[in-house]
Amino acid sequence: MKKIAVLISGGGSNLQSIIDRIEDGCIKNAKIEVVISNKKDAYGLERAKKHGIEAVFSKDEKEIKKIILDRKCDLIVLAGFLKILSGDFLKEFKNKIINIHPSLIPSFCGMGYYGIKVHEAVVNYGVKITGATVHFVEEEADAGPIILQEAVEVSSSDTADIVQKKVLELEHRILPKVVDLFCQDLIDINGRIVSIKEKK
Ligand code: GRF
Repeated sequence: MKKIAVLISGGGSNLQSIIDRIEDGCIKNAKIEVVISNKKDAYGLERAKKHGIEAVFSKDEKEIKKIILDRKCDLIVLAGFLKILSGDFLKEFKNKIINIHPSLIPSFCGMGYYGIKVHEAVVNYGVKITGATVHFVEEEADAGPIILQEAVEVSSSDTADIVQKKVLELEHRILPKVVDLFCQDLIDINGRIVSIKEKK
């Protein structure tokens, strides 16, 4: 059974999608050991508690690292975690940290692209397709190897709020999917290129 730490800063709807897919058996071989938030009032902490999962508030990266190491977590999921992690932290958990980003990387990502700002930029640019990306985390923001992406159409009448809603639906599908693949050891990384192994 793989142990997961989920790091959040906000509402935690992506966290909820992982909890739900573990509970209904779509994600196999996985258990969320701990949810850590760098914001004290993050609703995601309540979501964790409601499901009997340990919920911790910490702003301190060293403390976060210790919590994860003490619980021997195999996978760290950044699910709306709005804090840049240091090189040391990333080295410690190389190829074990994944992030969900609400655009089709490498578009609309990197410094300054978070939350509704991503979708405002999408609408203002006038792209016809956007989407969501799950990727491994490396030092440069949103630049690690891409694991899975899904796209959705943007219509000319869409507001940023509408796009955000559409993309969130994709996020709730692809993040649990990647967690399942990871926990079944079905993800291979070769440099930047990620491949998904066939299920036996
Ligand atoms: C999501 O859009 C995620 O892609 C981004 O932050 C948002 C978090 O939403 N990184 P929630 O807290 O999971 O509801």
